[in-house]
Amino acid sequence: MKNAELNQRRQDATPRGIGVMCGFYAERAENATLWDVEGNEVIDFASGIAVLNTGHRHPKVIAAIERQLKAFTHTAYQIVPYESYVSLAERINQRAPIEGPCKTALFTTGAEAVENAVKIARAYTGRPGLITFGGGFHGRTYMTMALTGKVAPYKLGFGPFPGSVFHGQYPNALYGVTTEDAMNSLERIFKADIDPKQVAAIVLEPVQGEGGFNIAPADFMQALRELCDQHGILLIADEVQTGFARTGKLFAMEHYAVKPDLITMAKSLAGGMPLSAVAGRAEVMDAPAPGGLGGTYAGNPLAVAAALAVLDVIDEEQLCQRSQRLGQHLVEVLQQARKTSPAIADIRAQGSMVAVEFKDPATGKPSAEITRQVQQKALEEGLLLLSCGVNGNVIRFLYPLTIPEEQFTQALGILSRALAQ
Ligand SMILES: Cc1ncc(COP(=O)(O)O)c(C=O)c1O
Repeated sequence: MKNAELNQRRQDATPRGIGVMCGFYAERAENATLWDVEGNEVIDFASGIAVLNTGHRHPKVIAAIERQLKAFTHTAYQIVPYESYVSLAERINQRAPIEGPCKTALFTTGAEAVENAVKIARAYTGRPGLITFGGGFHGRTYMTMALTGKVAPYKLGFGPFPGSVFHGQYPNALYGVTTEDAMNSLERIFKADIDPKQVAAIVLEPVQGEGGFNIAPADFMQALRELCDQHGILLIADEVQTGFARTGKLFAMEHYAVKPDLITMAKSLAGGMPLSAVAGRAEVMDAPAPGGLGGTYAGNPLAVAAALAVLDVIDEEQLCQRSQRLGQHLVEVLQQARKTSPAIADIRAQGSMVAVEFKDPATGKPSAEITRQVQQKALEEGLLLLSCGVNGNVIRFLYPLTIPEEQFTQALGILSRALAQ
């Protein structure tokens, strides 16, 4: 089966709305390497959009899934519960940066986790309002589309969206948006749109993922916590993309002095199996009445087995430390490239959540075109890179944190050549 033939079949069989980035089709994958149906090999710096911090098919994760496969694959936890769900909740409760007693509920996708965090926050506060940020991404369901702070392509043609959602400004040093500006934008919302006493939650990504790997400054997070405490608003950290060692800590919120009330997580939680979670202050998590939360597949046993193994692997292989080290190395390579490349506008990093932003050297404007060229050049040499950013002018690096040293060095060589172009 050839890629060209599969592309034709794909176009005939599936809608264009499911945009596909690559023209080649996966056949197998191992750690940071992916092979296509024609036998071509690529180094995977996309990790299925931040899902494979522990790599493709980590042997321990696969072994855990296989063991579970032989026991049972589904009972619906709400009908017949199983110990592994409780174990995983306990382990997340021990590790999540939440003040006081913590409880965890499992779901399937990132968007579903965010939806449920909103349900829990509304049930606890009895308030409707939600504040999120421009450039944020929270998913593709109706509430999460409403929360998302980017219209094209995520919201185009899909309205109307659920109401009582307002967008503030997310700080962005490169574009001159300070913490003060961002906090002022929230004050404007309280003046123009909604009484703060009607706001259930402020939802934010500690590092915006799709939005361009913008890192929330420490004073911003602190100010948000104070604002929330002042008005009885809950702070929800969407860690779907930042979680599980990507930023050099298990959760990105561990970089801050303040804690959120709820945390959503998914992606790298289960090493390639669909699983998500909401962890939060026990009192808040217990607000919805019995039966109010759940889902047929929520906390699927195979995915839960994978997640328990992922947590072991992160500890055993010290992936938080490795995330820091690999990220530093990558940043050095990017800084070196910046000396000769006027197109590099910014380099941002928290652990291995690293991004490089491009501008047109002639105009100083964001350049999606240069970003595409770098991506294309890297792919020609076998390195798969993802872009992001509200202007599509950022390359984000999402390699498995388990990538062999030699392969990482090889990938950085390809990247340097692509940037030198
Ligand atoms: C921060 C964040 N929240 C939510 C989501 C939605 O997750 P899912 O695609 O699993 O529904 C994503 C996906 O990219 C994300 O990055």
